[in-house]
Amino acid sequence: MNVPLLDLVAQYRGIKDDVLRAMMTVIERQGFIMGPEVAQLETAVAELSHTKHAIGCASGTDALLLPLRALDLRPGDEVITTPFTFFATAGTIHNTGGTPVFVDIDEATFNISPRAIEAAIGPRTRAIVVVHLFGQMAAMEEILPIARRHGLPVIEDAAQSIGARRKVDGEWRLSGELGMVGTLSFFPSKNLGGYGDGGMIVTQDDVLAERLRRLRLHGGAKQYFHDEVGYNSRLDTLQAAVLLAKLPHLAEWSRTRAGHARRYSEAFVGHPVICPPKVDPLNEHIFHQYTIRVPRRNELQAALKAKGIGNAVYYPLALHLQPCFAHLGYQPGALPVSEAATDSVISLPIYPELTREQQDAVIHAVLEFYA
Ligand SMILES: Cc1ncc(COP(=O)(O)O)c(C=O)c1O
Repeated sequence: MNVPLLDLVAQYRGIKDDVLRAMMTVIERQGFIMGPEVAQLETAVAELSHTKHAIGCASGTDALLLPLRALDLRPGDEVITTPFTFFATAGTIHNTGGTPVFVDIDEATFNISPRAIEAAIGPRTRAIVVVHLFGQMAAMEEILPIARRHGLPVIEDAAQSIGARRKVDGEWRLSGELGMVGTLSFFPSKNLGGYGDGGMIVTQDDVLAERLRRLRLHGGAKQYFHDEVGYNSRLDTLQAAVLLAKLPHLAEWSRTRAGHARRYSEAFVGHPVICPPKVDPLNEHIFHQYTIRVPRRNELQAALKAKGIGNAVYYPLALHLQPCFAHLGYQPGALPVSEAATDSVISLPIYPELTREQQDAVIHAVLEFYA
């Protein structure tokens, strides 16, 4: 049985009428730039994220780029982050003039280690970028006090964690709610994905929100007048319309993903070599990815591929060892937990439309490989 890693066609079949109606409304109106759907989506996402503001932008990458730019980094300024993430987390630090400082992750959750953050803080540290990887939040109750003690802003890269929650000091806190900003991606494969690129920044900070709104429009609050040099980084109205049509389904989709995750983990738990993902008891995980750790990972990957079972390795090379960051001087072995993860992780199909039979085929193929 062929099982894709992701089946967006299956999702489209279920929501086609709503999405096409929403897109046709925009097309009939012929208003594609900053139309009313953008503001409607911003309001809805701010509500979902428990934040005062949401600012649509062109991608999850730009959602990181704009607030990093708002930090006005100078050459030599350092931003601490994780090396076990998608490239954009660190690429945007570099592209806004900062130097990424990579620190290791927590072995159980793959998220940045608060202790490692604290150890890396120095006189040039200007900010911390935390990634809530694969759909579960990092230990914000430990990271925020460290950041506060050192007067450092925290950027939450929430590209993979929209709607995820964590009990922080006894209260449920949403992904993106507690940092200086939270940054979202609407890349098509995300739990809430558009039909192209898109992103959003959420924040509680009124002044910062105004600046981010300017930065996404070439740095001017008023057309043709520019307070600073910004970017063309708007969220397309058509994308906002698609996302508004999908948004009512998001919570159910994420619950269904979590159900699939439970079923996988029940099949793998207690296995001598397959290590299912660990959910921190403080977290409500939205399972953007279901990522196991295994020995002989590359062989498993080839065996699954031969059987038509979709899978992916997120991420095969930690960012501190990427050729583009060679000038930073990290050597293999510098961040051993991250490096071990890159050698052992593999992500399995977890999309909401995955059928029981498909999931059984994935489970069977993985168990058979290690039998
Ligand atoms: C953790 C993380 N950060 C940033 C991004 C960048 O988002 P985008 O692809 O929308 O630019 C992504 C997703 O692709 C991501 O997974």
